[in-house]
Amino acid sequence: MGYRVAVVGATGAVGREMLNILAERQFPVDEVVALASKGSAGKEVSFGEDQELTVQALEDFEFEGFDLALFSPGAAVSKVHAPRAAAAGCVVIDNTSQFRMDEDVPLIVPEVNREALEGFRERNIIANPNCSTIQMVMALKPLHDLAVVRRVVVATYQSVSGAGREAMDELFEQTKGIYETRMPEPKHFPKQIAFNVIPHIDVFLEDGATKEEWKMAVETKKILDPAIEVAATCVRVPVFVGHALAANVEFEHELSPDAARESLYEFEGVLLIDDPAGGEYVTPAECVGEYGVFVSRVRRDSTVPHGLSMWIVADNLRKGAALNAVQIAEALVAEGYL
Ligand SMILES: NC(=O)c1ccc[n+]([C@@H]2O[C@H](COP(=O)([O-])OP(=O)(O)OC[C@H]3O[C@@H](n4cnc5c(N)ncnc54)[C@H](OP(=O)(O)O)[C@@H]3O)[C@@H](O)[C@H]2O)c1
Repeated sequence: MGYRVAVVGATGAVGREMLNILAERQFPVDEVVALASKGSAGKEVSFGEDQELTVQALEDFEFEGFDLALFSPGAAVSKVHAPRAAAAGCVVIDNTSQFRMDEDVPLIVPEVNREALEGFRERNIIANPNCSTIQMVMALKPLHDLAVVRRVVVATYQSVSGAGREAMDELFEQTKGIYETRMPEPKHFPKQIAFNVIPHIDVFLEDGATKEEWKMAVETKKILDPAIEVAATCVRVPVFVGHALAANVEFEHELSPDAARESLYEFEGVLLIDDPAGGEYVTPAECVGEYGVFVSRVRRDSTVPHGLSMWIVADNLRKGAALNAVQIAEALVAEGYL
């Protein structure tokens, strides 16, 4: 038996990847519909090797009879339409930040806190975490189980695809423009992104942090452990796809780099590539199209009693967004909720 599935935001960077991953992983579907804004109605998007779906307008779409909706149309649109889909009996997996911190909405990374899925019937909505949070908690979970993570200081190197399709176009146009000795005005990003880095993702908050930095802190607490403190600096870099994190982690108990490597190696979804002397570490360009979260450069931080530093890389459109959402759907099926 297959399911009737709606992909909302199907023309976007995440939505297209959702369609790819549903097809790649052969999620059992009887019907898939692609939804986006009114302006995209009638356009075609690919589903699998040989199917084209005609995009329909979300505004006019009725979710009655649909089992599952994967949403990534931006927070303001999810705010209106996700509860509408949920009320029609369709389980919503939402990629935006809209519902993540709502107490009655589970925030799930299946390898990390699958058991929290249980509460989803309250609202019929499950939230997909922020892309950088997902890859960080994937690397922290096996280490937390061994030695209890207390504090993380992390700097992110986030690709432009994390800001959507138009942001990718802006990096392309600026890069080309600079070679042609003209500098297109920044539109999507607050400053020049080509040949530059920008320590500003989402809005600034009163305490001087950005909302992206705040998300990494509060989402990690909700997913992994409220006692973990996270100090993040989130930076946009001129890379198309793939986020990297440089994380410094303090533990309650002693944890050697070797023991950490062993537990990371064994953790489902994490790929340990860690032999710097032999040139073995992973960069964003190498993780594009991959499912895994790659961990490299695990080493002792001898400036604190129990500390390790590491480098964590993942495809932000896949494990950071679409793959995680599809894995949540697979978990719903496996647990008998769908
Ligand atoms: N990119 C990432 O790595 C990532 C990771 C995690 C979460 N997210 C979140 O996922 C969401 C989408 O991100 P994205 O990167 O895919 O953005 P995007 O490339 O800009 O795509 C946005 C999508 O939303 C649709 N949309 C916009 N307004 C709409 C409306 N009024 N009604 C229906 N559909 C509408 C767009 O349709 P049209 O083509 O018709 O405009 C498009 O399909 C954001 O909330 C983002 O924060 C992104």
